[in-house]
Amino acid sequence: FEIREPKNEPVKSYAPGTPERKELKKELERQKSQVIEIPAIIGGKEVKTGRTEDVNIPHNHSHKLATVHLCGEKEVDMAIESALEARKKWAAMPWEHRVSIFKKAADLLSGPWRYKMNAATMLGQSKTAYQSEIDAIAELADFFRFNAYYLTEIYKDQPYSPDGMWNRSEYRPLEGFVFAVTPFNFSSIAVNLPTAPALCGNVSLWKPATTSVYSSYFAMQMLKEAGLPDGVINFLPGHGADVGNPAINSEHLSGLHFTGSTGTFQHLWKSIADNIKKYRTYPRIVGETGGKDFIFAHKSADVDAVVIAALRAAYEYQGQKCSAASRMYLPESIWPEFKKKFTEEVGKIKMGEAEDFRNFMTAVIDQKAFDSITEYIDYAKESDDAEILIGGGYDDSEGYFIEPTLVQAHDPKFKTMEEEIFGPVLTVYVYEDDKFDETLELCDTTSPYALTGAIFSQDRYALNKMAEYLNQAAGNFYINDKPTAAVVNQQPFGGARKSGTNDKAGSAANLMRWISVRSIKESQ
Ligand code: SER
Repeated sequence: FEIREPKNEPVKSYAPGTPERKELKKELERQKSQVIEIPAIIGGKEVKTGRTEDVNIPHNHSHKLATVHLCGEKEVDMAIESALEARKKWAAMPWEHRVSIFKKAADLLSGPWRYKMNAATMLGQSKTAYQSEIDAIAELADFFRFNAYYLTEIYKDQPYSPDGMWNRSEYRPLEGFVFAVTPFNFSSIAVNLPTAPALCGNVSLWKPATTSVYSSYFAMQMLKEAGLPDGVINFLPGHGADVGNPAINSEHLSGLHFTGSTGTFQHLWKSIADNIKKYRTYPRIVGETGGKDFIFAHKSADVDAVVIAALRAAYEYQGQKCSAASRMYLPESIWPEFKKKFTEEVGKIKMGEAEDFRNFMTAVIDQKAFDSITEYIDYAKESDDAEILIGGGYDDSEGYFIEPTLVQAHDPKFKTMEEEIFGPVLTVYVYEDDKFDETLELCDTTSPYALTGAIFSQDRYALNKMAEYLNQAAGNFYINDKPTAAVVNQQPFGGARKSGTNDKAGSAANLMRWISVRSIKESQ
């Protein structure tokens, strides 16, 4: 039995006059006209802890969308019990039944849930309709469908059996539960982290980011409608340590599926190491963390292509994609033309609320992000080693708005060339054309990360040299294209070095981390 390779979910344009635009606008109004309550969901039951926080729209922070109930040790303990109970039936269920639940979830997303999930991501995480569509609809449906396909490919692989024996591999889930800690910046990744292990027969505890809990809650409801049994995924909104500590301290922890900051990942890894004697099994650790993604152009580069790539990679979703370009190396010979064209293009960018479909950018996620990004901008303003060429303005009076900003660093190791900013700030270093090799070396060694990177050239020898020099500098490497917008089954996604364990999201390799193989030999 096998399933045929699926197709990527087509992306809707939301162009003026299209029926999808009308539907989405209606749904946005509906969601904005109510304030919902977001409970924890443990063993399928809604749990209201009474410790609450408001969920507001980042681009209009006086508008409340929801009240969320926050979890702590008591709820985590309840969730572990529910998960282990649910595991008894879930792990034993034939895989076709698990696959059909996630296939149904993908179909719900392409159909009746499309506008609900899209609007929830637009409002909860301040994404434009298009950014929300490629994330919360297309990428998420792709994760569901392709993971199911990869799973059946994995299950097909069986060992050789010489005469007199029958050898076989049994693909079992891990014992215990997987702890999924998810980021605000992609609804698709947030939902993939608890669901990919669940597809393989595992049970999960899901701690969504408090800044994207609104769309995560919609996803939980959608999964229930798709037929996901109670207790397979337990939804635990809350603050890091309140949920994290009791989950990591449980002897039943069998895996951590994480996307978020490098610091938090290292902290969790260390806590797991401290507890290592306690666990019944060695927990699998899979994480995608920080980045300092680059664009590197050779003098032979097509300038127009670099302009568009830099604009989209640095400023789409306000520079808050893990893959966003935030440092750029350009040769002196193309710099004047680039600067002129880039300034013109950035001048056309419209920024404002997500519900106005003309806007290309909206707000950053919250006050903490706003303060941290603007600190970098102020640092660049005050430094003699850099200057701000474009943007640099910001205003948090109504929403957390930061202008698309271009910094020119005179020192290639300037702070904004080195550190992750996670906002719409791109720093460029202009190198002398004959210092190509030294600058490649700089690009490789300036940051501890290796998530994404893009090189631009029309010269095959130069491309080859760049690809060789930067061999370890990016888990996702782009040639003459922007370093963002990886598509499931086309560019499996993940980074190395301090960017993560590189267990590519949306691939058989990722699913294998949630599977424990039993090799069986039967003599005949
Ligand atoms: N997968 C996203 C991208 O490629 C980043 O997380 O942009």
